[in-house]
Amino acid sequence: MHTSLTCAACGADHDVDQLQNLCIECQKPLLAHYDLDAIRSSFTPDVVRKRSIRSMWKFWNVLPVNDPSEAVSLGEGLTPLLTCNRTGPFEPFENLFIKDESFNPTGSFKARGMSAAVTRAKSLGVETVALPSAGNAAGAATYYSARAGMQCVIFMPEDTPPANIIESVVGGATVNLVNGLISDCGKLVKHGKDRFGWFDLSTLKEPFRIEGKKTMGYELAFDFADLAGSTQLQLPDVILYPTGGGTGLIGMWKAFDEMEKLGWIGSERPRMVVVQAEGCSPIVDAFKAGDEHAPLFENAATVAAGLRVPIAVGDFLMIRALRESGGTAVSVSDTALLKGVREMSAHQGVYACPEGGAVWKAAQQLLESGWLKPEEKVVLFNTGTGLKYNHLFPLDGLPVIDHNDPNCLDR
Ligand SMILES: Cc1ncc(COP(=O)(O)O)c(C=O)c1O
Repeated sequence: MHTSLTCAACGADHDVDQLQNLCIECQKPLLAHYDLDAIRSSFTPDVVRKRSIRSMWKFWNVLPVNDPSEAVSLGEGLTPLLTCNRTGPFEPFENLFIKDESFNPTGSFKARGMSAAVTRAKSLGVETVALPSAGNAAGAATYYSARAGMQCVIFMPEDTPPANIIESVVGGATVNLVNGLISDCGKLVKHGKDRFGWFDLSTLKEPFRIEGKKTMGYELAFDFADLAGSTQLQLPDVILYPTGGGTGLIGMWKAFDEMEKLGWIGSERPRMVVVQAEGCSPIVDAFKAGDEHAPLFENAATVAAGLRVPIAVGDFLMIRALRESGGTAVSVSDTALLKGVREMSAHQGVYACPEGGAVWKAAQQLLESGWLKPEEKVVLFNTGTGLKYNHLFPLDGLPVIDHNDPNCLDR
C-alpha cells in the first residue's frame, strides 16, 4: 500500500487516507509513493512470476491495495508483446515490437488506470465518479464502475467515436455529449463535482490512474526477460507512446524508477518518445521549443480521438521524462496514421487503433532521420483496438457477389 501522496511539482504531502485530486497548494498532480525498502525482500521478480494472479494485480505491492482481493478487476494487463514480422515497410526494423493493449477489458489500456482508480475510490467510499473522456476512458470507467457498484457520469465531445458512446450508454453510465473538446468537458466535471459531490476521475487529477498504467512498464521488463530466456529483467532501447494526457508515459517512467529502487534493474532507461497528431501536438511543440509547459493547442483536430487533448496537466512530467531519457517527440498527419493502421493490420495481424497507427508511422520517420538505429529494440504501444474506429474505414464500393450466378467468381 502507498505510504504517501506528494505533489510532483512542489512536493507538498497529502493525506493518503483521504480522497485526493490535485495538490491543494499548487494544483499539480499527486504521485503515490511506497515503502520500497520495506517490501524489497518479499516483492521480487521471482515472487511475481510465481503468482497465479492473471492480471496487472500481480504487482499489487506497488498498487493501492493492502491485499489483491480488494482490487476491482476485470482481468486487465498482462498483454502480449509481439515481435514484428519483417515484411513490407517493416522490413528495415530488426527488433521491432508491439505491446498490444487491445487485449484489455473494454479494448484499451485505459482499463489499467481505471481498475486502480476505481479500486481506490471504492475503498474510500465513493458512490459516484465523473470524468471527461476522449472515448476509451469513458468505456473503461463505465465498466469498472459497474463492477464496483458505483455510478459513473461522463462528459465526452459530441464527435467522440460512436463505439465509445454506445459502449458507455449500454454500460449504464450517465453520458453527456458536449459541443467542445475534452478540455471543455473537464471544466464541466470541475463545476459538477462541487455541486453534486462526484469524485473527479480525470487523468492525473486523480492519483491512481497513473498507478494502473505504470504496470505497462513493469510488464515490459518481464516481457523482454522472457524473450531473452533470462530471469534478469530487461528494458527496450526505445518506447514510442501515443500521447494525449501522457499518463502511461509518466507512469512507465515512474515504474522504471521504482524497479531500480527495488534493485530489479540498473540505471539504464529506454529513450521515451511522445507521439502526437499534427492536428494536436502541444507536447511536441513545447519539447521542440525547449519549454517546460505546453499551452493550450488551439483548434485541436485529429481522427485519433485519444490524441485530441489540447492541454495536459502532466505536461512538465512528460517533458521531463523525454529530456532525462534522451528521448524525443514526433507528430504524424492523419493521412499517415490511417495508413499506419492498414499497414499494422496487413503485415502484423494487429487491427490497431489510429493512435497505434501513429506510433508506427513515427517509428518509420525516426528510422529515416537516423534517430533510430535498425538494430535497436523498439516498442510501439498499440493502446487500443481498431474495432472502436470502424467508422474511419467506410466500405464504399465493396461489391456483393450474386451466389446464383455461375460465373460469380470470374472477376
Ligand atoms: C487509444 C488511445 N491511445 C492513446 C491515448 C492517450 O493516452 P494518454 O492520455 O495516457 O496520453 C488515448 C486516450 O484517450 C486513447 O484512447
